[in-house]
Amino acid sequence: MTHSVLKAVVVVGATSAFITGCASINPFAKADPRWADFKSWTKITEGTEPTGDPSKLLGVVHKGEEGYRDVYVNDIGKEALLGPAPNNFPEGSVVVKHQFDNKADWESGENGDVTVSIKAADDGTRNKDNWIWAAGMKGKAGPSDFCSGCHTAALSLYDSDYVFTTSGFLEKHELK
Ligand code: HEC
Repeated sequence: MTHSVLKAVVVVGATSAFITGCASINPFAKADPRWADFKSWTKITEGTEPTGDPSKLLGVVHKGEEGYRDVYVNDIGKEALLGPAPNNFPEGSVVVKHQFDNKADWESGENGDVTVSIKAADDGTRNKDNWIWAAGMKGKAGPSDFCSGCHTAALSLYDSDYVFTTSGFLEKHELK
């Protein structure tokens, strides 16, 4: 490889790394295709009034107990989520929480924020390293001790693999 070709390769590589790194703050970035069409997925909270803090773990995250939140799952994760515990999700499962400050916004579907859990790998155990997380429709998915640290509680509370809102969760809290 001549010197000038090598230089071009390095420049192209650096540019794409820069664009990827800025995905979460670039207003022109597109939503990640892994969750862009989440509204066409199965809406787990359909027919419920999804507010309060049933697990008593929310605190102020996810808009707190006054907030409203719908949860959607893609086809890959659907069976694991809707089935009985233990809920173990296959690789490729994506769960989206569409959260709102209040009932009026939830009813109109306005001003929603999105958080995303993705089972990106499967080492056969319930392990935080199998999961990546994103905040925002145009957020960038990656490992997060903040998100996984709290979601670890789903293991002991609902016998679930880092996902709280399973059929067991809905039944236990009489949400369905
Ligand atoms: C302090 C604890 C806590 C933290 C931190 C937290 N979550 Fe959650 N999350 C919850 C609880 C509790 C629920 C479900 C209960 C509810 O909605 O009442 C939930 C629900 C979700 C759901 C819907 C599926 C499910 O597991 O029920 C997604 C998706 C989600 N969170 C993503 C995230 C992401 C991404 C982050 C980090 C940016 C995050 N969470 C940080 C507590 C937390």
